[in-house]
Amino acid sequence: MCGIVGYVGKKQAAPILLDGLSRLEYRGYDSAGMAVYDGEKIVINKTTGRLKVLSELTHDGATMSGHIGIGHTRWATHGEPSDVNAHPHFNKDQSIAVVQNGIIENYLKLRNLLQDRGYQFLSETDTEVVVHLLDYYYNRYDKNPLTAVTKVIHRVEGSYALGILFADHPDVMYAVRKDAPLIVGIGEEGNLIASDVPAVLKYTRDVFFIENEEIAVLTEKSIEFFNMDADPIRKESKHIDWDINAAEKGGYEHFMLKEIYEQPKAVRDTISPRIRDHSIVIEELGMTDEEIRAVKKIHIAACGSAYHTGVTSKYVFEGLARIPVEVDLASEFRYRDPILEEGALVIVISQSGETADSLAALRLAKDRGITTLGIVNVVGSSIAREADKVMYTWAGPEIAVATTKAYSCQLVAQYLLALKFAQVRGQITDEQLGEYLHEMEILPNQIESLIDNKHKIQKFANRYVAAKDVFFIGRGIDYAISLEGSLKLKEISYIHSEAYAAGELKHGTISLIEDGTLVAAVVTQEELYKKTISNIVEVRSRGAYVLAVTNEDNIEIEKTADCVIYIPKTSSYFTNSLAIIPLQIFGYYVSVGKGLDVDKPRNLAKSVTVE
Ligand code: AGP
Repeated sequence: MCGIVGYVGKKQAAPILLDGLSRLEYRGYDSAGMAVYDGEKIVINKTTGRLKVLSELTHDGATMSGHIGIGHTRWATHGEPSDVNAHPHFNKDQSIAVVQNGIIENYLKLRNLLQDRGYQFLSETDTEVVVHLLDYYYNRYDKNPLTAVTKVIHRVEGSYALGILFADHPDVMYAVRKDAPLIVGIGEEGNLIASDVPAVLKYTRDVFFIENEEIAVLTEKSIEFFNMDADPIRKESKHIDWDINAAEKGGYEHFMLKEIYEQPKAVRDTISPRIRDHSIVIEELGMTDEEIRAVKKIHIAACGSAYHTGVTSKYVFEGLARIPVEVDLASEFRYRDPILEEGALVIVISQSGETADSLAALRLAKDRGITTLGIVNVVGSSIAREADKVMYTWAGPEIAVATTKAYSCQLVAQYLLALKFAQVRGQITDEQLGEYLHEMEILPNQIESLIDNKHKIQKFANRYVAAKDVFFIGRGIDYAISLEGSLKLKEISYIHSEAYAAGELKHGTISLIEDGTLVAAVVTQEELYKKTISNIVEVRSRGAYVLAVTNEDNIEIEKTADCVIYIPKTSSYFTNSLAIIPLQIFGYYVSVGKGLDVDKPRNLAKSVTVE
């Protein structure tokens, strides 16, 4: 996820771009840049680091004079954070400048095609493909910018929001989107484009929401829209009532709720670029089939929620790829002198890529000469750079301390990896792979339906605002889900909670169950239904009130649980991705009900970069 801003009007563009970008830093902040037409040519300034580095570089925009410009704050997906990978990007003769938010899924193919036509690339980004493709079509079709833009959007696949300047047409800015947000602001002293409303509210509350594959053409005094065949289209503007603070959260009360709602898109962004012609392509992984076949054992090391995804993927890897998996808390792994033998693969999972314990675990494995793989959300982070292999989650920046969308992306990234390993090692047939991939591809819609139907769990949460102890139980993958459900509740509501392997209750914990104690039972593994239901009966007979999260066809459970939340049918390996949604929502609304700071819980940091 990145932030785009553009301005054309009476005023100096650069200060307006910087102001707008500062409102979009929650969308990305590893590098930033601006392109401004100075009356003769397009000038670009861009740099790694937070937006303030760009502000300092340009003296708050004063060194970039001109009335039309585009700006960008980056969240790297393709290509590490660097000056050369920062946006905007130029074409060869610096007559076209582009900023982009999104993922061009066919960028490699297009890059090869362009290189065959003599185009040279300076960066590793997918965006640079767009600017050279624009150059190609612009020069091929009578230097007509609109034609060039329509030709490009017919060729690129994936999600994109583009801001474009043509030096030959210095009073006009072009913008187009598909599956990445972009709006047009109707200003009194000029018009604007932006990834999101907060960037324009200082200048206008009247905006156009651009639909997929619609092109906006802006000048100081006019705004026109065209479809992807360059036919003019009419649009209605909307008036925005949000204040800036609400707008930064997209109208949601907290970033955590916004990020819960972003999960379908984040999961789709992490899955879809990797499913190609019924097989799995993880471009950045860099593991050959031979290396995959040589893996004898997997060690997973991570912390917190990332560790919980590792507990889930132990079952997925062992079930699908038949590779033994050991999962450790990274803070334990780094000090227990683990036995790492030849053929081991150490996988370190980390949203931030900076967690001290996880980084130490990675370094320990590397010191032992063991191949390491980082599953990371932040491109260019320490773990991403130091691991031998890397697989990115594409959740975009996650602001709330309590992880939701990054957690969900870590899960599906590991499903993909396990399926890839299983296929390469001949543990599943192509047909079976196809079935699993089909089930994965519908997960985002299933997640969306659970979020859209959150009212039941939201109401249930309001009843437990005063709870003192809550237990989460499950068996197998359901135990892993319980771990995360428990952490979500305790870290943002400060209510004591514990997750237990359901079969473990009778070995001690059941003595804690009293009249009215809430027990959340996760029951998604069909072959374990009966066992977990017997645990539910045990705790209920001791006075517990049981919330069950189970598969939609398991209606039997209505006879034993007090409240049931159903999840749509999916592979038993993927149920974590669905069952966790009501538990995230439960934790969120209990915290809201207690009037706590959901996004910034006490004593916690988003990334624990110290021991
Ligand atoms: C989970 O909601 C917490 N934010 C925390 O447990 C987090 O998952 C853990 O600190 C690991 O962080 P990382 O993924 O950035 O390494």
